[in-house]
Formats: sequence, C-alpha cells, structure tokens
Amino acid sequence: MIKAGIIGGSGYTGGELIRLLLNHQAVELDFVYSTTRAGKSLSSAHGDLLGQTNLKFTGDINADVSVVFLCLGHGNSTQFLKENHFSEETVLIDLSNDFRLQDDSKFESNQFIYGLPELNKNKIENAKAIANPGCFATAIQLALLPLAQHNLLQEAVHINAVTGSTGAGIKPSATTHFSWRNNNVSWYKPFTHQHLGEIGESLNSFGNKIGKLHFLPNRGNFSRGILATAYTKFEGNFEEAIQMYETFYKHAQFTHISDEPIHLKQVVNTNNCHIHLHKHDDVLLVTSAIDNLLKGASGQAVQNMNLVFGLEEDLGLQLKSIAF
Ligand SMILES: NC(=O)c1ccc[n+]([C@@H]2O[C@H](COP(=O)([O-])OP(=O)(O)OC[C@H]3O[C@@H](n4cnc5c(N)ncnc54)[C@H](OP(=O)(O)O)[C@@H]3O)[C@@H](O)[C@H]2O)c1
Repeated sequence: MIKAGIIGGSGYTGGELIRLLLNHQAVELDFVYSTTRAGKSLSSAHGDLLGQTNLKFTGDINADVSVVFLCLGHGNSTQFLKENHFSEETVLIDLSNDFRLQDDSKFESNQFIYGLPELNKNKIENAKAIANPGCFATAIQLALLPLAQHNLLQEAVHINAVTGSTGAGIKPSATTHFSWRNNNVSWYKPFTHQHLGEIGESLNSFGNKIGKLHFLPNRGNFSRGILATAYTKFEGNFEEAIQMYETFYKHAQFTHISDEPIHLKQVVNTNNCHIHLHKHDDVLLVTSAIDNLLKGASGQAVQNMNLVFGLEEDLGLQLKSIAF
C-alpha cells in the first residue's frame, strides 16, 4: 500500500483528497496534518466523513510516507518544506502555485514537474515532485493545447471563465459570503489573473507563436465547477479542428470531446474535462468544463500520484457526476 500524508487537511482541497484517498484501493491514509485541529476527528472539519474513518488530525508529520500532498495557500508550501523534511523517497505533490513556473520549479534537491497529464505524462511518470496545475489553468490549457500544438493560436485569444465559490478556499470572504454571492455574478482580476503564467508556459512549450491571451475570470453563483470559453480567429476546416482535438486527447483518460454543447453539471463531482468546439464565420469557440476541486485540484493530484506509482491512471477516480 502507498502511505499518504496530507498537509492542510481542513481546507477544501485537503478535504477532497481525504475523500478520494479513503476510497483509493492502493492507498493507506497515514496522517492528515492541521495547524488548527490536531487531535480532533476528521469529521470535525468535514461532517460528511462521520462514520467513514476514525482518523484524527495530527500536529506532526510522518517523514517516511510514500507520498505527501501539500494543500496550502501560496507561499505556505515553500515555508512548510523549509521547516519540515521528508525522506528522500517521499513523493511531493503540491497544489499551490509555489513550484508551477519553470523559474520556481527547483526547490532544494527537488525538481518539480508540472502535473498536467495531458501535456506531461511521461515526465510525471518519472517525477519525484509534482506541481499540480491551477484550476482555471487546467480548464483553459485543455481548451487550447491542440491549437497551440498546431500553430493555430497566433492571433489574440479571448477567454472567459466562471468558477464556483470553493475556488476561493474555505476561509469566508466578502465575495464568498452567501448574501453577496447568491443570485450574483461579477468579474475579478481582468487580464491579470495569476494563472496566465502557467498557461503561457504550457502553450509556448510547442515552440509556436502564441497570440495575446485576454482572460476574464468570473465568480459564479454556485459552489463548484469551472466553465471556460475561449475563442480565436480560425480559418481552417471545422471537421479538421474536431479531428485535431480527438487526436490530441486520444489517450487522455479524463478529457473528452463532446459533439453536443456542454454544461457544468456533466463534470461536477468527476475528474473529467469535457470540451466542445463551435465555429462561426472565421472564429473558433472552444468550451471546456471541469470540477475545480477534482480535475482542477485534488482529482488531478491523485491522477498524478497514480502515474508516479505506476498504477492505473483512473484508480480511485471512477466518480459519479451529479448530473442534475
Ligand atoms: N480551491 C480550489 O478550487 C483550488 C483549485 C486548485 C488549486 N488550489 C490551490 O490549492 C491550495 C489549497 O487551496 P484550498 O482551496 O484547499 O485552500 P483552503 O480551503 O484555504 O485550505 C488551506 C488550508 O491550509 C492550512 N493552512 C493555512 N495556513 C497555513 C500555514 N501557514 N501553514 C500550514 N498550513 C496552513 C489550513 O488548514 P489547517 O487549519 O488544517 O492547518 C487551511 O484550511 C491553494 O494554494 C489553492 O490556490 C485550490
């Protein structure tokens, strides 16, 4: 069995990892570290776990686990790894943006690999440290990678994406407060969202010219999921575009091309990404949908763990969508 530890266990992505790992056939959840809840039951933070496990949060780590997931806010993973040392054999999977960019990917003796399996599967299989992608970054890259590979992103790309409130973490804020968020919608960080860096690096990895990315993130009136639309000039043949996406994702376990327009509930509570293409005059519109806490975070982290340990890629990730 793979012994796993979780740091930041009372948060949203930490809670989602606990749920996944308790049900993973090849994993034994060894410890869940918390700065605020050591000694308390996991269900004290995650009420749905009542009756599922007797594990309690700890204030100590087991340095010899096979894999540790860091579910901390930006900057805190670096700090935590400076103060706590794991064995040479322990695989690190970090969910923050501390190690995602190439310039940040080397930390002490660890070389972090960007954990988007649709792009980096071979490197992930041989990695000891993974920088798990951001949620918006996952949805947007999966929408655009085939175009980038075929040198079809030379013109400006306009991206609009809407996320659920869990994307902002468990700590309440003015814009996650029910009275504000309910029946409401708004944009934030127009054209400057922090995920643009990792998106740009991946799209540029094919060596082709990439046009300007205009990204408008929105806060949606729901708790989980991301629906992203991206459009750009495209003078090619629509059937060829579909073929290009089908080919790019031929071996992708969780990314699927839909003939029909897609919506969020198809993917919520799953590790899937659904993609739909639509052509209008000389514009190609690509829509992608993911669950921000699964394919956008903890599900993708488990997918990466499966690849690192040579397991079936979808082990423990055969989940059921909510559908309605
Ligand atoms: N939410 C998403 O949809 C999503 C998607 C992709 C990536 N991410 C990224 O994943 C990371 C975790 O996100 P999240 O939404 O799970 O955040 P969260 O709900 O705010 O949880 C973070 C947890 O970190 C712990 N913590 C806080 N300060 C700490 C410190 N100084 N040292 C150690 N632990 C500390 C806290 O748990 P304890 O009180 O138990 O210690 C807190 O509950 C973030 O970097 C986020 O950007 C999030």
